[in-house]
Formats: sequence, C-alpha cells, structure tokens
Amino acid sequence: SEAPVPVIAIDGPSASGKGTVAERVARELGWHYLDSGALYRLVAVAAARAGLSLDDEGRLAETCAAMTIEFRDGKAWLDGIDASEDLRSEATGIAASKVAAYPRVRTVLLTRQRGFRRLPGLVADGRDMGSVVFPEARLKVFLTAALPVRAERRHKQLMEKGMYAKMPDVVEDLRRRDERDATRPVAPLRHYSDALFLDTSGMTADAAVATILGWWRERSEP
Ligand code: DC
Repeated sequence: SEAPVPVIAIDGPSASGKGTVAERVARELGWHYLDSGALYRLVAVAAARAGLSLDDEGRLAETCAAMTIEFRDGKAWLDGIDASEDLRSEATGIAASKVAAYPRVRTVLLTRQRGFRRLPGLVADGRDMGSVVFPEARLKVFLTAALPVRAERRHKQLMEKGMYAKMPDVVEDLRRRDERDATRPVAPLRHYSDALFLDTSGMTADAAVATILGWWRERSEP
C-alpha cells in the first residue's frame, strides 16, 4: 500500500507567529502549506459580501459550502474576486473567530482542509490541525508566545500595512480572541497532550523554524 502523505500540524493563538514559521517550514521541506485561519477568514469575507448576520449559523454554513476559494499568485480569491486585502484586516479576524465557533461551519471546512493534503507533504497551521483535522499528523507543535510579545508583533504588522492601531486596543482584541477561541465547545484552542510546546517569546522566526525542522528530522529518521 502507498505511504500516507506526511503532515506537520502547527497550532497556536493569534499573532503567535505560527503562520510565518509554518510557511517557512513548508518552503524548506518543499511541501504544501495550509493556512487554515485564511479559510475561516474567507467565510467572514463571504458573509460580509452577502450582508449576512454573524448570528445566522445556517446561512453561514450554506455560504461556506457554496464558496469557491483559490490561493494563487500569493493572493486569495473568493468566488473569483481577489479577497487578499479584506482577509488580513482586524475586523475580518474578529468576525472569523465568531464564525469559527459554529459546528456546522467547522464541519463544512473539514473536508476542504483535508483536500490540501498532497504529496510530498503538508504543513498546516491553525487551532485544531493536530487535534481534529489531521489527528494522525506525524509531528504536532503548539506554538505560542506571551501576550505582550504577540501584541507587539501584531501591532508591528498592522503599522507595516498602514493600519493605525493603539497598543492597548491590540492587547484587548487579542485577549478577547484568545478567550473566544479557547472556550468554544467545539475544537477549542488548547495545548493538546501530543503536541510539542514551543514558546517563541524570546526567539527569532529563524530559530523557531530550525527547532521544528530539527524535531521533524528526529521523527522522520529511521
Ligand atoms: O489564525 P487566524 O488569526 O488567521 O485565524 C482566524 C480565526 O479563525 C481565529 O480567531 C479562530 C479561527 N480558526 C479556527 O477556529 N480554527 C483554525 N484551525 C484556524 C482558525
């Protein structure tokens, strides 16, 4: 029988740097990369385009099932229209965290996420990659950083994009988002027991990438 496509799952809170690190691990290995948060963000963008209420789980799940998504040329396309800019805004992140609490939305996205698993391998980042979507992943990492460090990183990102934000507001948004993502009944964000813990508070992205590649080598060598 064929060997299964290997998966590295990287989960963690908002602004932990997991996206940057996961994408670079994928590049180093020559593997595919799944930014699962982008899928939840696209549901939020689709809902905004359609003028849907974020309270309407049924309509949100239908919209989610019907949307066509494509990641091409470094951009995210939703129903054929470039959604890259909307995708990264704080408003979209907050709305994504709300739609992500609905079990029906999560169920629809499950199959889509698993579709990204192709040879030679997949690095997937999110909140439940190792716990729900790819429970058989060969390496699972819980990547985090202290709240003030994450706030600093998010603030810098926003400023670079020309989006002005006050530091106390950034801290408060992150704190609220952590709480919502960690306390929802379905697939909450948590450090599940088979994930290796990586606190990147005092670490560069390079060092985090090297740590994960080292763990992968240890696991993949006979
Ligand atoms: O990682 P991110 O900030 O782009 O994710 C946006 C929101 O999507 C996040 O607040 C929670 C949700 N999410 C999720 O519930 N499960 C995932 N695997 C990824 C993201």
